[in-house]
Amino acid sequence: MARERLNSPRARLFVALDLPDGVREGLVRWGREALADPALRPVPVESLHITLAFLGYRAEKEIEQIAEVVRESAGPAPWVELKDPVSIPPRRRVRMFALPALSPGAEVLQEGLERKLVEGGFYKPEKRPFWPHVTVARVRPEPRGSRRPAVVVDLPAKLPEGLSQPFLGVRLALYRSELKPTGARYAPLAQVELPGAGRQ
Ligand code: 2AM
Repeated sequence: MARERLNSPRARLFVALDLPDGVREGLVRWGREALADPALRPVPVESLHITLAFLGYRAEKEIEQIAEVVRESAGPAPWVELKDPVSIPPRRRVRMFALPALSPGAEVLQEGLERKLVEGGFYKPEKRPFWPHVTVARVRPEPRGSRRPAVVVDLPAKLPEGLSQPFLGVRLALYRSELKPTGARYAPLAQVELPGAGRQ
């Protein structure tokens, strides 16, 4: 058994609420100027999402069961309203910028998903409460091999009017995160469209 555990291939997994393409493209357009500081690495369009549960490394053979839990956790497409960028952490040297997301519906989806993942033994809930957000940029490390984030001089501007309007989240997706020197790449493994999302 121990041997099987040691040998079983693992995947770094998380479940996210996907945003409509128009919103993701709008965020990229906004980011061309708002996230232009050379210390920033803007999140690519295909990686803009609201994470609902970060599972960490799980055995690959669990993926199909986890995908089933994700499909069973679908509910009505939730309204989402994005707020102006905030820095994380708020006081010390900034590591990333995120847009807080106001979305009671996403909180309901997250609770249901979390409960089912815990029941299945696939997830240990975080101690901190769920904070819906879209990460839009990470800060590059300082030059010369330091692991501290570089200093960001040119802080992100506020969101334009169009991106501050509520929209409907479109689907739940199970992603595999592959860590690369150039940043993480997220590959969708399973997706479920949320009822009502086509209405906008
Ligand atoms: P973030 O955007 O706020 O960093 C894949 O790493 C996704 O899972 C990211 O969107 C990331 O959120 C989220 N995530 C949540 N908790 C995480 C953790 N402990 N480690 C890595 N990513 C985490």
